[in-house]
Amino acid sequence: MPARSWVEVGHLNDIPRRGARRITRPDGSPAIAVFRTADDEIFALIDRCPHRGGPLSQGIVQGRAVACPLHGWVIELDSGRAEAPDEGCTQTVAARLAGDRVLLALPAAEIAVKPCWSAA
Ligand code: FES
Repeated sequence: MPARSWVEVGHLNDIPRRGARRITRPDGSPAIAVFRTADDEIFALIDRCPHRGGPLSQGIVQGRAVACPLHGWVIELDSGRAEAPDEGCTQTVAARLAGDRVLLALPAAEIAVKPCWSAA
């Protein structure tokens, strides 16, 4: 696994409560969805539902999970796992807050070009 570093991608208030922002990546890697819960926790997942690739960044956050907008699978934000009876997993990305700054653990190769929010 390549070395990773914490990279600031925006501010907490850029993300609506119970919503998400999408981050496109300079190297063409899959986009990342960064979620904010009602309690201001932050989580990040690859923006691709394990069912048929739906955009999780357009889903509704329910507690510590997100409902995919396409067919309603519920994906746990901390593990990326689909809740039963569905099965599958989306890759997680480590995320944390430093004050109100949102930080993601990204591969070193991506740090030269600062990632940023894009329209969801
Ligand atoms: S693509 Fe997400 S539930 Fe079908």
